[in-house]
Amino acid sequence: MSDQKSLQEEIVEVCLRRGIIFPTAEIYGGVAGFYEFGPVGQTLRLQLINLWRQHFIQSEENIVEIFGSTILPEKVFEASGHIEGFSDPLTQCDKCKSMYRADHLLENHDTETINFDVLTLQMLDTRINELKIRCPSCGGNLLPTKKFNLMFETTIGPSSDKKGYLRPETAQNIFINFKRIANFLRDKLPFGVAQIGKAYRNEISPRNFLVRMREFEQMEIEMFVNPDEINEHPSWDEISDLEINILTRENQLKKQKFKRMTVQKALDDNIIPNQYFGYYLALESEFIEMLGVETSQFWFRHLLEDETAHYSKANFDLEVQFPFGVVECVGNAYRTDYDLKKHQEYSKANLFVVTPEGKKIVPHVIEPSFGVTRLIYIILLNAYQNKSRDWTWFKFPNVLAPYEVLVAPLMKKDGLKEEAYNFFWELKDEGIDVIYDESGKIGKRYARADEVGVLYCITIDYQSLEDETVTIRDRDTTIQYRIPTDATAQVVKELVLGLISFEDLQQEFEEINAGDTKGVEKRKVETNKTQQNTKKGRSKKKQNKKSS
Ligand code: GAP
Repeated sequence: MSDQKSLQEEIVEVCLRRGIIFPTAEIYGGVAGFYEFGPVGQTLRLQLINLWRQHFIQSEENIVEIFGSTILPEKVFEASGHIEGFSDPLTQCDKCKSMYRADHLLENHDTETINFDVLTLQMLDTRINELKIRCPSCGGNLLPTKKFNLMFETTIGPSSDKKGYLRPETAQNIFINFKRIANFLRDKLPFGVAQIGKAYRNEISPRNFLVRMREFEQMEIEMFVNPDEINEHPSWDEISDLEINILTRENQLKKQKFKRMTVQKALDDNIIPNQYFGYYLALESEFIEMLGVETSQFWFRHLLEDETAHYSKANFDLEVQFPFGVVECVGNAYRTDYDLKKHQEYSKANLFVVTPEGKKIVPHVIEPSFGVTRLIYIILLNAYQNKSRDWTWFKFPNVLAPYEVLVAPLMKKDGLKEEAYNFFWELKDEGIDVIYDESGKIGKRYARADEVGVLYCITIDYQSLEDETVTIRDRDTTIQYRIPTDATAQVVKELVLGLISFEDLQQEFEEINAGDTKGVEKRKVETNKTQQNTKKGRSKKKQNKKSS
């Protein structure tokens, strides 16, 4: 990191230059709290979502996914309590009229208060007066703090008498569709409903790039469980010995660090409310590590009583140590039957299931709620490398890398370009995430690939035309080996999955690297016939077009 710039500024700049994240409406000056994914960022986002789906949905037998509307009628939020309670404390300067989130303002001045979230409006005003805090813009007097509801309000239809709101969480669609989904699943508890989608909060002071935004994306699961069976998770034994970091309420009051303990111990000591809850903390812990976050860099914080949301019996936030502070990336709530009962009351719909014994049950809900942009930000920060080379680069974990392979001809002449371009299509047909680059010196192209975290660079050179071998370069070490052209797809697949290491290639293709091309016959690609049949036509057409 350069001396003048903070790491955050550096990352923002890199994101702009490399097609990762752009400010919304940038050509019109941008708008605070809104960002968009560029080509590389969108690929990274999709990788993250795929990994999340694999880890939390596809590996379970009873979780379904829905995709709901983002504007919902007022009644939904009357029932959920968001109209009444979804607000932050706002103070305004009586001179220049600038507005501030009172607790954030206080955070910059108050070294005594431990938890600003729990302060009432009156307590905030008292502390602001005690510390003589003035308007940071003009030094003016700050007016008494009031509640500001964070939901974006809109009207539905031309008559403008029907109010609607942009949803502040994806969860509500799941609760209001509960009856239909439960019917579809034949009322068989337990079942989970997941949703990935946009949420909107009119934050008073959006900040820290992707951390506090006004439009962002969530990945949420509402797990519906018979409350009598909440301690009978069928896969409990598989995760109960897994160790997780927990910052208990006691640790917080004594200003201690988190403790590492098994999920079983957390349950036995009544730190976590039940097995279903513990199951998700275990899965999340595994998931966050897959994103490249070190075990010591994150923990589950048991929210204090005053901080716990109105709808929840227990909340554990997965907090991550960012370079500039601690950020909640996943919220875990034991929502009990609060939401279904509220919607039942307001809509008069029957939101229960009937057990095979004929018992009517309003299920309890365990909710893990992930913020996509905050996770993307920690992935970027952890993968960012600004010391080891003349260029900055991203060391993304294999599962997240936006591209697996770059194919590059050494030169554009002597048939190398055509050979490389055809090879690029062959790898694409094999299902590899591959990009092609023929412009500039080869070293520059390697650097460009590193800059967006491409795992391997494959170069077609003069020797490739003679002996059907290519060079493969490893992003993390920059080491290169020669491997047979027709084994490349298989090698890349094995490398990406971690079935072999890059160093293994040296031994396996020893003869080739020593100049003996007999080794070319050593490994044959196991082609996937179906994939070949369906994709060959497209590939051939493209190859012909380029070389004609
Ligand atoms: N349904 C529960 C719920 O929405 P939350 O703790 O308010 O709980 C869940 O939000 C996650 O959504 C957070 O852990 C965070 O990752 C993300 N999130 C919340 N507000 C955000 C914001 N303004 N900008 C970006 N991400 C946000």
